[in-house]
Amino acid sequence: MRSTRSTRTGFVTCMVTLALLLIGCSDDTSDAPTGQANATPRVFFGDTEPITAETSLLGAVDGFHTRAITDERRHIHAIWPEVPGLDALNEQLAKATRQRVRGFRKDYPLPTPEQVAVPELNRSWRLLGSDEEAVGVLTDEYLNAGASAAMSWRSHWLDAETGQVQPNSALFSDAGSFRDLLRDTLAGHDGIDTDSLQRELADDPPVVAFTDDGGLLIGFDEYQIAAGDKGRVSITFGAEQTDELLSDFGRAARDASLDPHQPAAAPDDTATSESPTADASPETQTVNCAKAKCIAITYDDGPAGHTAHLLDVYANKHAVATFFSLGQQVATFPDTTARIVDEGHELGVHTWDHKDLTTLAPAEVRSEIARTVRVIEKQTGQRPTLLRPPYGATNDMVRKIAEKQGLSEVLWSVDTLDWKDRDTDTVVRRVLSQSRRNSIVLMHDIHETTVAGAGRIIDGLRKQGFELVTVSQLKS
Ligand code: NI
Repeated sequence: MRSTRSTRTGFVTCMVTLALLLIGCSDDTSDAPTGQANATPRVFFGDTEPITAETSLLGAVDGFHTRAITDERRHIHAIWPEVPGLDALNEQLAKATRQRVRGFRKDYPLPTPEQVAVPELNRSWRLLGSDEEAVGVLTDEYLNAGASAAMSWRSHWLDAETGQVQPNSALFSDAGSFRDLLRDTLAGHDGIDTDSLQRELADDPPVVAFTDDGGLLIGFDEYQIAAGDKGRVSITFGAEQTDELLSDFGRAARDASLDPHQPAAAPDDTATSESPTADASPETQTVNCAKAKCIAITYDDGPAGHTAHLLDVYANKHAVATFFSLGQQVATFPDTTARIVDEGHELGVHTWDHKDLTTLAPAEVRSEIARTVRVIEKQTGQRPTLLRPPYGATNDMVRKIAEKQGLSEVLWSVDTLDWKDRDTDTVVRRVLSQSRRNSIVLMHDIHETTVAGAGRIIDGLRKQGFELVTVSQLKS
């Protein structure tokens, strides 16, 4: 039995970090005494975040993948983790994602090519906690349908001992009286819609998670129990009170959050495929694209589970590519990210979590880019110089912010539509038939079908006289 750490008392700092700390951007509980432990419960409006564990914990598990449903035309990017051995959790996350994507496709018609404001569905995930008893994943959804974006979130807790995903209420020793406590805490609170609250409390709260001092965090969606402009609503309880509220499984989930490590269901062998099978020293530095027939192959949205194999193929053939990576994938797969740079490839920025930058406020665009630059620098020691905006969606605001961070924008000239067909032969055929001198070819290393075609693409292009170079080499 572990003891809880000392209680944090100040929640007013408003800053964007990697969401490792509990941050209250808008503390509405003016009556809560400060400077005193367990001054709870407290109610927050806005971006209060639970403690989250490094996703690289799962990224280091042998056979770990992130799965994705992406649609470049409809602006769908939905990603979730798949941990070997945690079948019930994997299934629940996959099912929830597919359901939401299906609903989105039904609700919003296929955008026309001329359409400027394209409805967007973005789903990402974070690791709440992980050990041999409990694994928790938070899914985070951003739905932008024009006028305003709606944020929703869900916690998914797996009891690793039974292999079952538990409802959020299973974390409480007495779900009924906890519901009463929530009702008493929130009813009459400034900004809370009491009628909605009454209705919503019939179900489990969307998020049950923990703060970094072992306190409980209950999260509601935007619009769920307060007006939309209030943002998400969170309620936190101090560590001592939390201990009384939790069931045995709830305590296991709390421990898995405070001291996360690799889940027991996963294979013990944590070795990642760190060994390129060939000496990776491509000799493209000397290629002069003014004379040579150059081409730049690019892979977006990774790195992911198949990227290590893709790197093996490139290393064997002494070829290079450019990877436009997502910050959250870099954070999940730090070893693969380091390999990209170590083995002579170029690594550019594709934002943190793949939102359409043209729909965001300038501060959000800055953060999407800066967070990704930071995590790439941390994992590789190199500062990226290229940005590919998600969906190729850009404008003057985006370009200016990118330039300020030392990034120039790169789109593409050959679109393989590999996300759509998911067919290796089709992808290979498109690349080999559409490539011209100085082409920039767009593919996605999150798709196994794309990775499977890499060897044939490299060989086929070389047969046509192409020299494979990075984007920066092509542009120099
Ligand atoms: Ni992309």
